[in-house]
Amino acid sequence: MDTTELLKLADTLIFMKTGKHLDHTQRVVLEGTFQGKTYAEIAEEIYQSEGHVRNIGAELWKALSEQLGEEVNKSNCRAILENARFHKSSAIVQNNNNHIKVHTLNVCTERQLTANSKQQNPNNQTQPHLNLGDAPEIRAFYGRETELATLQSQLLEEHCRLISLLGFRGIGKTTLALQLAEQVKSQFDYIIYRSLYFAPTPETTISNLLQIFSPSAIPPDITTQLSQLFDYLRKYRCLIILDDLQMLFAKEQLAGHYQNGLENYQRFFTLAAEVNHNSCLLLNSSEKPREITNLERIINIALA
Ligand SMILES: Nc1ncnc2c1ncn2[C@@H]1O[C@H](COP(=O)(O)OP(=O)(O)OP(=O)(O)O)[C@@H](O)[C@H]1O
Ligand SMILES: [Mg+2]
Repeated sequence: MDTTELLKLADTLIFMKTGKHLDHTQRVVLEGTFQGKTYAEIAEEIYQSEGHVRNIGAELWKALSEQLGEEVNKSNCRAILENARFHKSSAIVQNNNNHIKVHTLNVCTERQLTANSKQQNPNNQTQPHLNLGDAPEIRAFYGRETELATLQSQLLEEHCRLISLLGFRGIGKTTLALQLAEQVKSQFDYIIYRSLYFAPTPETTISNLLQIFSPSAIPPDITTQLSQLFDYLRKYRCLIILDDLQMLFAKEQLAGHYQNGLENYQRFFTLAAEVNHNSCLLLNSSEKPREITNLERIINIALA
């Protein structure tokens, strides 16, 4: 594995930890480390003091250790990253999938990006399949730049698989989700919108989603339905907006409890966060589902 590949992987991991890409000095320190140089040699190259370079190294090892869940230092950094990459490559071969899980995070490497033309070429304007059901038409949109930027980054850079958009009635959740879909649609194979306003059963919702991908016979049991759906969510990059989630919850109970017969939504959303796939479920609700509090891999965006 060459230094460029290792640097890209380190950059991805650091970006996920800090939200920032490697700067020039950090790159030089890592590159020198991969090439077996001492701190003194690296320092000399960039006209910095050895102490400064050591400090930068220490910060990098700390961030990488936290991200990878094992102690990374100057002497083992290369081996650990190569090993992480090795596991990822095997995951790709086995699952034919563009993403893998490193602890609780999805890492998407350059090679994996190449496998996905939607991501590789942002100018690839192939039209996605739009299936917007009863989505309202957006006539005007203003503001919400910060929320849009956050959502876009979570979708396109972080490849987040489950996002919840929470906010009071009428605050603009539906409008924001549809505006986001409009902005990112060229990066997806499918853009799907469904309102859960009339509290359909999870079986109905999932069958309905399955029919978008294939009109063939839908399996009767939810376990097989979910398994088929996640096969499609691995095969295609889909953005699925599920709106009005609060209608699934029982009234006069603790917030976020599903009505009788709708509990399998919890299973669906938990799987969406935890199993390996290339898509994103965007949940709009004025009430926070209980399981969302317990999930690690979810981004909650509260609108005000
Ligand atoms: N950013 C925006 N720019 C322009 N109009 C907006 C914006 N956000 C919301 N609106 C308008 O405000 C109204 C309510 O917005 P929207 O339906 O998106 O809210 P909501 O949070 O989804 O509501 P509910 O909780 O009832 O589903 C709509 O008429 C919509 O057009
Ligand atoms: Mg709405």
